[in-house]
Amino acid sequence: MTFPDGFVWGAATAAYQIEGAVTADGRGTSIWDTFSHTPGAVAGGDTGDVACEHYARMPADVTLLPELGLDAYRFSVAWPRIVPTGSGSVNRAGLDFYSRLVDELLGHGVSPYVTLYHWDLPQPLEDAGGWTARDTVSRFAEFADVVARELGDRVATVTTLNEPWCSAFLGYGSGEHAPGRTDPAAALRAAHHLLLAHGEAVAVLRDTLPAAAKVSLTLNPHVIRPFTDTAADREACRRADARTNRLFLDAVFRGTYPEDLIQDTASLTDWAFVRDGDLELISAPLDLLGVNYYQPVWMSAAPADGAGELWAGHDDVYLRTHPGPKTGMGWQIEPAGLTELLGRLHKEYTGDVPMMITENGASFDDVLAGGEVDDHERAAFLTEHIAAVGDALDAGVDVRGYFAWSLLDNFEWAWGYAKRFGIVHVDYATQARTVKRSGLALRDLIAASRPGG
Ligand code: FCB
Repeated sequence: MTFPDGFVWGAATAAYQIEGAVTADGRGTSIWDTFSHTPGAVAGGDTGDVACEHYARMPADVTLLPELGLDAYRFSVAWPRIVPTGSGSVNRAGLDFYSRLVDELLGHGVSPYVTLYHWDLPQPLEDAGGWTARDTVSRFAEFADVVARELGDRVATVTTLNEPWCSAFLGYGSGEHAPGRTDPAAALRAAHHLLLAHGEAVAVLRDTLPAAAKVSLTLNPHVIRPFTDTAADREACRRADARTNRLFLDAVFRGTYPEDLIQDTASLTDWAFVRDGDLELISAPLDLLGVNYYQPVWMSAAPADGAGELWAGHDDVYLRTHPGPKTGMGWQIEPAGLTELLGRLHKEYTGDVPMMITENGASFDDVLAGGEVDDHERAAFLTEHIAAVGDALDAGVDVRGYFAWSLLDNFEWAWGYAKRFGIVHVDYATQARTVKRSGLALRDLIAASRPGG
């Protein structure tokens, strides 16, 4: 596989999943601190209190990136480190941490890709309504401005949000994620406010960032397939596609919400929270769309035998188990789904806007033995998905980079430390890092994929 000149190879993480040090240097509390400390919310009662101790070990962790031959590192900024109460005064020590991180990266020839929001809303903002409150949008724009002023001169790309579908529908719909609310109407309202926060932040970033810096958004559009080829299952997929995919994509790339979505959700909301001018802000041009892909999903209407589980935010769409190979999360392994997804996005939405894979990876039950982790399944997963990106490039889709999820094993949200996604193993008892076989395979693949490599 040869990739175009300048194709960016990276690895990704997120603040709450790796940093720990949750009370250090004036950090405030986020919804994930509260949620993870709520009994029963996270597997094993795990929390991000310690995580990978990345806050203290950052310089050493950065050295892993050049060791793996990576060009870029995608990380997120913890909002409660920067604005501990979500509004008002800025915490200098928090900014300093990310400023040092950026300098470390640049010192190692690694390009920083900053995500502003990877799910750690300051708890005081949640107490005031969280993403269901329009006021949170303005707080986010202020936070974006502070970060852009501090780091903007040194970063390649600033991404506003990571996977707003998860924030809205897992956070406020199914309650699997923080803040753990289960109100489908609130999820729709949250989705709009997240998109508006993205739009307002784009305006702020355009004002603040140097012209060379790129502005992006990372979505996790799903490949959704009917469980059976019946009208009822196809209709379930249409509804799921509206709420999971087109809500976000139509708003960002077309400046509208889909008609069928408005009709499907009429019993939940009249969408009066959408005000004049909102969609114009939300659809401001982007330099790049980040795409996170893990698996395709199969959906059905209510199954007679009670199989499947309700799809987040719906009361009439079910996620079904499909035969075939799965990861340690039980997620379907299907690299071709990534090619299909990129093709759809390119054809229906992105036009001239390039894409990057900002997350792709897999959890497996790794074993550390004799100082090595022989995770050949993950190595194969990454290799096959990178080949699927190559297929999309061959088909004329403009993809500029690929980031593996994740650099390190880390706090996998509701699954805690039970699920490992890293290309580098973390021994949580000693905090020792061990590059896995998949990390080495990725390093070799990258070297061979460079033109002339
Ligand atoms: C994505 C998240 C990321 C990680 C992976 C496995 O949805 O963005 O933080 O948890 O899933």
